[in-house]
Amino acid sequence: MIFDTHAHYDDKAFEADRDELLNSMEEYGIGHIVNVCASIGEFQRTISLTEKYPFVYGAVGVHPDDADKMTQETLDEIRRLSRLEKVVAIGEIGLDYYWHKEEAEHQVQKEMFRAQMEIAREEKLPFMIHSRDAAQDTLEIVREYMNGSMYGGIIHCFSYGKEIAQEYLKMGLYLGIGGVVTFKNAKKLKEVAEIAPLEQIVLETDCPYMAPEPFRGTRNSSRNLPYVAKALAEIKGITPEEVIDVTEKNAKKLLSL
Ligand code: NI
Repeated sequence: MIFDTHAHYDDKAFEADRDELLNSMEEYGIGHIVNVCASIGEFQRTISLTEKYPFVYGAVGVHPDDADKMTQETLDEIRRLSRLEKVVAIGEIGLDYYWHKEEAEHQVQKEMFRAQMEIAREEKLPFMIHSRDAAQDTLEIVREYMNGSMYGGIIHCFSYGKEIAQEYLKMGLYLGIGGVVTFKNAKKLKEVAEIAPLEQIVLETDCPYMAPEPFRGTRNSSRNLPYVAKALAEIKGITPEEVIDVTEKNAKKLLSL
């Protein structure tokens, strides 16, 4: 069954039909979902989803957009929640220089990224990384941690080229691939998908964002993942079933499920 490694079902976009949608997942072939925290102060929304649905797991962390609002208390809370049984990763954490162009902001983001990587290391949990327009700095920090005893992780919504992909693959990390791979103009990501071993790819939606073709621009959900599996299968010259099967195994292995 399909494993969605990165979703945001706590988002307001699902307010009207969240339960109905999540209750339909099994029927659509979705076996597991990781709901990933992004904003500060919204951890409990993810934890509640993990308590309500047996197939929903959680990742706790703060997105670089909110890095400047983080305090020691936030870090303590991430650590405390990371010890819950159904919390399987620290995320989403990382760097975003696309929305934040000031050097001072980059410094704060790097500091909070490192602080959360430290929690992942100490709590022996994998990490889920968001990185946009910050290829070199992200790579540098990930390298720092992968040199030590680090569990591993996923580079979510991978948006860089082949060379950067190779660096992460060499470290044994996974690339999260979602709706973008179905876009006609996604030449770079298609090249990455071609060179990355299937054993190091995981499926993800990033829903409500990043809906695949033919639904591009609409609200996304895990139910659209067969379109991503189909696109990956075409690139790799294999069947969508094989993509679904191997990526599910990859996710279960990384997240110890
Ligand atoms: Ni996300």
